[in-house]
Amino acid sequence: MTGGQRPARPGRRALLISAAGLAAGAGAASAGWSLATSPSVAPDPAVIPPDDDLMREHGVLKRVLLCYREMTARIHAGGPLDARDLHDAALIIHDYIEGFHEGLEEGYVFPRLVHAGRLTSTVTTLLVQHARGRVITQYLLSQATAQGLASPPTRTRLAAAMQAFERMYEPHEAREDTVVFPAFRQIIPAAELTDLGQHFAALEHQQFGTNEFAAMVTRVAGIEQSLGIYDLTQFTPEVSQYTAPLG
Ligand SMILES: [Fe+2]
Ligand SMILES: [Fe+2]
Repeated sequence: MTGGQRPARPGRRALLISAAGLAAGAGAASAGWSLATSPSVAPDPAVIPPDDDLMREHGVLKRVLLCYREMTARIHAGGPLDARDLHDAALIIHDYIEGFHEGLEEGYVFPRLVHAGRLTSTVTTLLVQHARGRVITQYLLSQATAQGLASPPTRTRLAAAMQAFERMYEPHEAREDTVVFPAFRQIIPAAELTDLGQHFAALEHQQFGTNEFAAMVTRVAGIEQSLGIYDLTQFTPEVSQYTAPLG
């Protein structure tokens, strides 16, 4: 286990959506939701719609993908890489994206689309990709050690694993944002969307506590800072060569 000097993380069990909750969601999706199993919390008018919630979780995923890209480049360049950064990045994917975000998609979004006969082959592909991603994440978590990063063959495999993960999840999340979630929104009545937004927020509160999204953003920002990719100004291009008069 790496990252022994890092703050203690919540246990794996505490980070998983309850199977009962998801089963209730999937069943409800087939039957036209009944959210009777929702944790009882007062409706919060500040809660965002469920598709917006899923898309901002994609923002966390995207930032981890950017970390993976930087770490892959470092490996290819033979540069230094702290195993704790790699392990923590993979753990965010494991806990928050695979253990929560994808649970919401698989428990609430995909079943409703399939039940409506919409995007069924896309959903099948997305489910396969979730499963493949979990295999890669398990590999990254198991090999993200100082010993692993000291081994040239393991470094090469880690870089290939991160690259494969990034290559799959960039189109995966883009397709969900632009096709899957809009289709989901089309088939869900507005009142149900509001109820589901409350339900997602209640599940997140139940599983993670308050402000978990902000906590995840802070955590991934820490990895970005460690990798030297946090400062946005470094990504702003010089454009003088594009504005000079043509010679
Ligand atoms: Fe997904
Ligand atoms: Fe997603």
